[in-house]
Amino acid sequence: MRPSYTVTELLGDGIGPELSKAVHTLADALPIHLDFRPIDLSLENRRARGKAVYDEAVASIVQTIVALKHPTITAEESPNAVLRRRLDLSVIHRPVSTIPGVPTNFRRELDLDIVRIATGGTYDDPGRAIGEDGAVSLRIVERRPVREAARYAFSLGRRTGKRVTSASKYTIQKATDGLFEAVAKEVASQYPEVPHSVELFDALLGKVIMSPEKFQIVLVLNEYGDFLSDMACGLAGSLGIGASANLAFDASAVVRVAMYDAAHGTAPDIAGKGLANPTAIFLAFAMLVGQLGETEVAQAIKSSTLTLLGDGIRTRDLGGTESTESFAAAVAAEVAKRLGSSGV
Ligand code: NAI
Repeated sequence: MRPSYTVTELLGDGIGPELSKAVHTLADALPIHLDFRPIDLSLENRRARGKAVYDEAVASIVQTIVALKHPTITAEESPNAVLRRRLDLSVIHRPVSTIPGVPTNFRRELDLDIVRIATGGTYDDPGRAIGEDGAVSLRIVERRPVREAARYAFSLGRRTGKRVTSASKYTIQKATDGLFEAVAKEVASQYPEVPHSVELFDALLGKVIMSPEKFQIVLVLNEYGDFLSDMACGLAGSLGIGASANLAFDASAVVRVAMYDAAHGTAPDIAGKGLANPTAIFLAFAMLVGQLGETEVAQAIKSSTLTLLGDGIRTRDLGGTESTESFAAAVAAEVAKRLGSSGV
């Protein structure tokens, strides 16, 4: 009997259906059984059913604990923002690493785990005008999400032997970023075996480019994480191959629910043509499988995907000739070979 897990799958728009099919091809090749519970988050269904779709999605995710989300059109609302708010997903983990064989302008190796507080900063307040010539917005930093993100970052450091760098503008934003660094330091003291250093965020950007090998896990506030993630993806060669975990925690800092997704959107220009690159959703799926405790299977999914890309087996966006389907089949076969699973 294969170990069995239930997973909520949030279906999306554009290339979403092709990506879902690719994930199922891969899932069928694994030595574990995944029972996917689909929820239709397409724009059409959201418009037809309104809030009920989100109620259904939230109830299912709370039950299955883990969810895989496909890209969705942001129209009246952003489904990611709605789910983040309703599930209290306070932390985003975005691993970004150089993929051998993927062309890039950057010549160095990069392997970063960006742990970002997903709420607050300057993003929760759109600001307001003051007369004709000025505007103001609030910058919000709260102890709880910072502590959750810090605990997650340091636990990751403990598990992987990696060091943690916290970065902010604590010298200028003394109250907000000062609180962030104080909480990071307090949590660091509970993980004495995990090296911790502090950087000013502007200096960090320069140092990541000059000496990327010095940085492993980087803990940052919301907007800094947003900037750093895109810069790191650019250095790694593509904004399109990033994947994230969106995490909510219980009072003892254990992951309560986790939603995994690709960083890219619905790619309407290539939808339905078999051109979608499933790399990002596969990397997101690998993180999900890791969260289920299936570390070896997660590692096999990630390394098989990256090895094939390095060997030149790629979709067209990365200069190859594979279709979504043929790339997915190749990864599935490689994973099955590595894990000795037959796919049944
Ligand atoms: P996009 O990421 O969908 O597309 C940008 C470019 O990258 C396009 O040329 C597209 O073909 C290409 N691309 C994206 N993913 C690809 C993949 N897997 N394989 C090959 N090529 C890929 O960004 P865009 O055009 O700004 O947004 C399109 C729609 O996606 C919008 O409605 C937006 O709201 C939504 N969106 C949804 C997100 C989500 O659900 N998490 C995130 C970002 C955008």
